[in-house]
Amino acid sequence: MCGIIGYIGKKKALPILLEGLKALEYRGYDSSGVAFLKGKNVNIIKAVGPIVALEKKLNLDEDTFVGIGHTRWATHGVPNEVNSHPHTSGAVTLVHNGIIENYNELKSFLEVEGVKFKSETDSEVAAALINYFYEKSKNILEAIQKFKGKAKGSYAIGLIVSNDVNKIYVIKNMSPLIIGISEDGHYLASDVPAILNRTDKYITLLDGEYAEISFESLVLYDNEGKEKCIEIKTFQGDATCIDKGKFEHFMLKEINEEPDVVKTILTKYLVNDALKELPDLSKYRGVTIVACGSAMHAGLIGKYIIESHLNIPVTVEIASEFKYKKLLLNKEDVVIAISQSGETADTLAAVKIAKSVGCHTIGIVNVKESSIAREVDNVVYTLAGSEIAVATTKAYLAQVIILYLMGFRNEMNKTMSTSFLKIPNQISKLITSYDYEKIASYIEKNESVFFIGRLIDYALCMEGSLKLKEVSYIHSEAYAAGELKHGTISLITDGTPVFAILTDQNIADKTISNIKEVKVRGAKVILIVSESLDNVSKDVYDEKIVIPSIYKEIDSLLSVIPLQLIAYYCAKLRGCAIDKPRNLAKSVTVE
Ligand code: F6R
Repeated sequence: MCGIIGYIGKKKALPILLEGLKALEYRGYDSSGVAFLKGKNVNIIKAVGPIVALEKKLNLDEDTFVGIGHTRWATHGVPNEVNSHPHTSGAVTLVHNGIIENYNELKSFLEVEGVKFKSETDSEVAAALINYFYEKSKNILEAIQKFKGKAKGSYAIGLIVSNDVNKIYVIKNMSPLIIGISEDGHYLASDVPAILNRTDKYITLLDGEYAEISFESLVLYDNEGKEKCIEIKTFQGDATCIDKGKFEHFMLKEINEEPDVVKTILTKYLVNDALKELPDLSKYRGVTIVACGSAMHAGLIGKYIIESHLNIPVTVEIASEFKYKKLLLNKEDVVIAISQSGETADTLAAVKIAKSVGCHTIGIVNVKESSIAREVDNVVYTLAGSEIAVATTKAYLAQVIILYLMGFRNEMNKTMSTSFLKIPNQISKLITSYDYEKIASYIEKNESVFFIGRLIDYALCMEGSLKLKEVSYIHSEAYAAGELKHGTISLITDGTPVFAILTDQNIADKTISNIKEVKVRGAKVILIVSESLDNVSKDVYDEKIVIPSIYKEIDSLLSVIPLQLIAYYCAKLRGCAIDKPRNLAKSVTVE
């Protein structure tokens, strides 16, 4: 989702801005733009589509040392040049990430004051409001304070003022923004990896804070406008991300990284007493998991594991729903937020609500030092490394593994631990054992696909279904196998592909009956079955993928590997933009 970059320093700004915009591409965007100062003049260049379209319009040798840039993921107004950032109003030019919720009200007020708007965006309203206050006082810091008093919603803003040639101003509220610090100057960015080529030193801003940045100085102000000490941090995460290596797409690369990711997590937690470093969930009255999308699907698996092994009730809440419902939580409950990016606005908001009612909060987060990681009481990092493909694969699996370890924490013994340690090898074998492209070719022409399974297998189906639809644009649905006949079975006709996951001995017969129900109605069944249950009669399925049997619940999670690969190959066969599916963003920073 929208990305912000900025630079003020000794070096020419445009190559730095362009490099930063490219590093932010993974977040998802549909247009981009830069603004830079030459003397007192603000120059703005924008383009719709990929960054290369903007690059073609830029003279990278331009003598400018101050600039801001933006990748826009459209929310208010279609993706076109007028709506893309930077936006200017009078002396103020800015880039904005987030949503000004009361922008309609503010716009009406400003229109009465004579302000004319060019775009449909809430961001132009932010520029106009700051400029409105700036024109009155000619003091930009005062104008920023007044803007904060009036604007509601989320905003990370990078701002230049045409009369104030050697400064960039930033404002942060509920949207991510960091300031990078190096000997050659200062940077601003939505996340640290965007500037890692330049510096690993940075500062973070709390909500409501703002800063005045010049080449030599950096002044940080708290929410009340008082000067505040800055605390410089050094990035500890993985910087080796922006390279596909030998793979055609990041998604394929990241799937192939899964054995190593699991190995890293297990190596950390399955030695000595390290598992005890994970929070002990058994001491709480109940667990509520808040997350979105795939992270929520990981939470559903966590529910089964934690309930079975720790005997405490677990509720999984879609974070965007959690915020608006009546909460029956108290201090005896723990709320676990799961997030790859650590910036998902809905999940972050859910954490804040959970804290406000006194719950202990735990984050299962991939991106170090992200907003959710900083907000929760206790963070467990998923150690998956940078994930670039918009569709999550390795980070999802890492979330699931962490949830398994939390569930098994108090009963892990040598035998179980040996079973866990087999996972990486078995994933590697699964990746290479089947011709997933061939299986994908059986379904890529279909417009609708179903996934069925029970309990954990059902949670896996939900993830398999999401993966397929988001990258290949084939419509798909996941159903609890026993639920299909309550309506959806009417959609099964001759040749409809149905993925059936079968890894749980206790309910295998029931699921097989459900598979037969679709088979006799013409479905083309792709059976994903654990080795220990691989005695299903041949007339029940058309294709079969056998998952190695390691340990009962572990077998189920391995089934996500074929599902991710089949989704990948379907997308490839259909010529889709695999790493950046249309309309999607990696980091969903608006609610
Ligand atoms: C799907 C996908 C999304 C994310 C969701 C939450 O492949 O990636 O559904 O899982 O947007 O994102 P995070 O985990 O960053 O909070």
